[in-house]
Amino acid sequence: MALFDLDMMQSLYAKLGERVEAARKVVGRPLTYTEKILYAHLTQGDATTVYERGKSYVDFGPDRVAMQDATAQMALLQFMQAGRPKVAVPSTVHCDHLITAQVGSSEDLSKAVVENQEVYDFLSSVSNKYGIGFWKPGAGIIHQVVLENYAFPGGMMIGTDSHTVNAGGLGMIAIGVGGADACDVMAGLPWELKFPKLIGVKLTGKLSGWTSPKDVILKVAGILTVKGGTGAIVEYFGEGATSMSCTGKGTICNMGAEIGATTSTFAYDESMERYLRSTGRDAVADIANTVKEHLTADAGVYAEPEKYFDQVIEINLSELEPHLNGPFTPDLATPISKMKEAALANGWPTKIEVGLIGSCTNSSYEDIARSASLARQVAAKHLKTKAEFTITPGSEQVRYTVERDGFLATFDEIGGKVFANACGPCIGMWARVGAEKQERNTIVHSFNRNFAKRADGNPNTLAFVGSPELVTALAIAGDLTFNPLTDTLINELGEEVRLDDPSGDELPPRGFDVEDAGYQAPAEDGSGISVAVSPTSNRLQLLDPFAAWEGTDLKGLKVLIKAKGKCTTDHISMAGPWLKYRGHLDNISNNLLIGAVNFFNEKTDNVKNQLTGEYGPVPATQRAYKAAGIGSIVVGDENYGEGSSREHAAMEPRHLGVRAVLVKSFARIHETNLKKQGMLALTFADKADYDKIQEDDSVDILGLTEFAPGKSLTLVFNHADGTKDEVVVNHTYNDQQIEWFKAGAALNIIRAQVAG
Ligand code: F3S
Repeated sequence: MALFDLDMMQSLYAKLGERVEAARKVVGRPLTYTEKILYAHLTQGDATTVYERGKSYVDFGPDRVAMQDATAQMALLQFMQAGRPKVAVPSTVHCDHLITAQVGSSEDLSKAVVENQEVYDFLSSVSNKYGIGFWKPGAGIIHQVVLENYAFPGGMMIGTDSHTVNAGGLGMIAIGVGGADACDVMAGLPWELKFPKLIGVKLTGKLSGWTSPKDVILKVAGILTVKGGTGAIVEYFGEGATSMSCTGKGTICNMGAEIGATTSTFAYDESMERYLRSTGRDAVADIANTVKEHLTADAGVYAEPEKYFDQVIEINLSELEPHLNGPFTPDLATPISKMKEAALANGWPTKIEVGLIGSCTNSSYEDIARSASLARQVAAKHLKTKAEFTITPGSEQVRYTVERDGFLATFDEIGGKVFANACGPCIGMWARVGAEKQERNTIVHSFNRNFAKRADGNPNTLAFVGSPELVTALAIAGDLTFNPLTDTLINELGEEVRLDDPSGDELPPRGFDVEDAGYQAPAEDGSGISVAVSPTSNRLQLLDPFAAWEGTDLKGLKVLIKAKGKCTTDHISMAGPWLKYRGHLDNISNNLLIGAVNFFNEKTDNVKNQLTGEYGPVPATQRAYKAAGIGSIVVGDENYGEGSSREHAAMEPRHLGVRAVLVKSFARIHETNLKKQGMLALTFADKADYDKIQEDDSVDILGLTEFAPGKSLTLVFNHADGTKDEVVVNHTYNDQQIEWFKAGAALNIIRAQVAG
């Protein structure tokens, strides 16, 4: 408990009733749980006005900040620039993204510690200096560690990772942001968010047999698609919600990122109390129980949800089937009973090469216990596991406990390989044997994302997302068309056998245990600690401020790329091997947009350099424009920048001289990140104008001297043949964000304030 700031929680709870009452009065009706937490975290104190959902920009004061090592580097490099002596709110760093999964946990961890020494030393010393809790490599994946140690009902947290939303499983409003937002909050500044819309998901019935919480979110993803949650918070409720485990709720909230939701949450209930007590947080549970009535929606809200939510979805858990979502997108939902048909119709390879369980999404005690109950049947029923099988524990606490309880030994018996407590295969950090051959193949995993190349870098790997128990069953069968609910397997004795339903305890009957959780507390007084960044490092680079806006319209911008179709932050700033440059802006900029498809030739990383007429890689082309002192524009399709919170996807184009990104629509976090870095994030007023942009265009952006909230700008596409098209573009900048643009970046304003 030394890790958790109980005082902070107590002071929030002390004013919770008053704040909720004030909000109820202003809004003039009963409140949802989400609204209570949001209104309780207004930086201004009690609510005095009703915020319009999807419209009003609101200043919030989050209780915590969490950062993973890949994004923490840039967040903390930025924080160092802000000139403050200590972080203003409790903050933590988690070393989980930079460990390559290859041989097995201890070898992989030792190798990563050597390879990333410079980065870990930087993060450890910068954390020590500025009062930040530091979780060493091997301690676990950020979201699992947060759920086990820091999440609490009614709290608000931001984290520099899109799956920060996982903490909604413990009743938080937890939101993934870019490093620039984290930097603001650690510097004590308000955090601005557009007041979200509310989606209510009513869960009736009860999970049983093969169906798990993962299937709830896989189903929701199928209904809402990857864009359906954009700008909204999803609140789950109903008998189905209260009857499932706290960690299961975490899984559901975790994958809320896959529907683009701002976050997802559940009201406080007994499953959360059980989890808090089981993870050694009796004090948190006791205090939460004293304000229980504020930690759920007001009476009547869940009975008539249509009155209070913008959209309501109802799912009957008793009728819900296990699902597999994919390939290549997490919203392509197929119930397991339809998978055979779908696989054959689409020509998906049906042989499963690897089943992977674990990750931040699904490595709870319950997940591992239920998967182990299937693995145990392999020997008991004389079966042989057909596919490779891997386990990625979410934290050392979970790993230690499931090892103690014999589950890892069970997996070992079926040939399972335990990777380090880290992201590994979920983020492309998987040195998979043979992946370089780029063969078409199928894998199944219990992670959250399945974009092309996400797991092993092979664009021809078809990844399907399912619950850990379904993944385990499919790995045993080695066959994508196997439906464990109805089908039998032929065992080594030639007999037909059926797998029994998975089963397992929600929480360890003997409690959680751990020898060394891997935590380093910060120094009481960090003023004497120095943070060294070598000027010759190729992993870390201190930042130079971006230049302020020149005060004029922007003319003669070259079209760097007109991206076609899906362009996620993975396409804009690829992960995998590039993760090692997350702290070095110039080096990582060499991956700018290399995954995006060029509309004009349908190729990736191949665009026309308008200065030479030659085709070449995107980063080199942009560096040529920069060297010539010419700005450029990136054009994109729908939901541009979906996927993750990495601000590198905004900093890289800014660093290399791109001035504007013009798209049909943005993913929220990426749009905000662009604004923070002083870029112009623009949308077509008429989406059909996307078709008017030609490869050799030079583009003028007009109206910037009167840049104002709600006021459109004009773009002129000057075509090579001398003709031109003039189009109207929209933006969502408010007054403050326009100041960021003018100053060159949000950070430039913070630094000026501290200095002033
Ligand atoms: Fe890591 Fe994958 Fe979760 S990258 S934080 S395990 S989504």
